[in-house]
Amino acid sequence: MIRDLIIKNRSYRRFFEEVAIERRTLRELVDLARMSASAGNCQPLKYIISCEPQKNALIFPHLAWAGYLEDWPGPCEGERPAAYIIILGDTKVSKSFGCDHGIAAQSILLGATEKGLGGCIVGSVQRAKLAKALNIPSVYEILLVLALGKPRETVVIERVAPRGDIKYWRDSESVHHVPKRSLDDIIVG
Ligand SMILES: Cc1cc2nc3c(=O)[nH]c(=O)nc-3n(C[C@H](O)[C@H](O)[C@H](O)COP(=O)(O)O)c2cc1C
Repeated sequence: MIRDLIIKNRSYRRFFEEVAIERRTLRELVDLARMSASAGNCQPLKYIISCEPQKNALIFPHLAWAGYLEDWPGPCEGERPAAYIIILGDTKVSKSFGCDHGIAAQSILLGATEKGLGGCIVGSVQRAKLAKALNIPSVYEILLVLALGKPRETVVIERVAPRGDIKYWRDSESVHHVPKRSLDDIIVG
């Protein structure tokens, strides 16, 4: 079951924007992150949740999408995320956040997948502009933005040849292909 969930949990970048996600659902997803591992159990992560169109519109312009798809500027109106979870590092708690935010992101996305939703981790964020747009106090470092919604695209995993190209690509049917290295290629000892 965990394998099925992980395989279903792809990075989705096009959504049915009109399918709203309730604040309660976002809180449940953050609760999964709350229960996840944290170095030294410091728990330095804080969260901003957004599911209102007005707030979503303040977040979207500061995100970069699918760098390898050079001709695609990102999701158009109607296909944008219905919600976001912004993962912050609270510098009052710790000055370094290790990989806590990666673990939190995966917990949230697996939870979203289980609920029939999907999302994308966005690390390419114009952080100063986003902080200004949402009035985020400087004590919080913006670590990752999770875009969430009901997926409107098909994503398939394919095998990358040893030393082959790892760039994801989109075919003429708009199916998104994600090459993954083989197991034998990554177990090195
Ligand atoms: C730390 C991190 C940052 C990422 N940042 C972005 C990003 O800024 N924009 C984007 O479109 N995708 C981003 N992604 C998604 C990756 O492109 C995606 O995970 C990769 O293409 C593999 O696809 P998969 O998640 O379906 O396996 C990020 C993923 C991770 C783990």
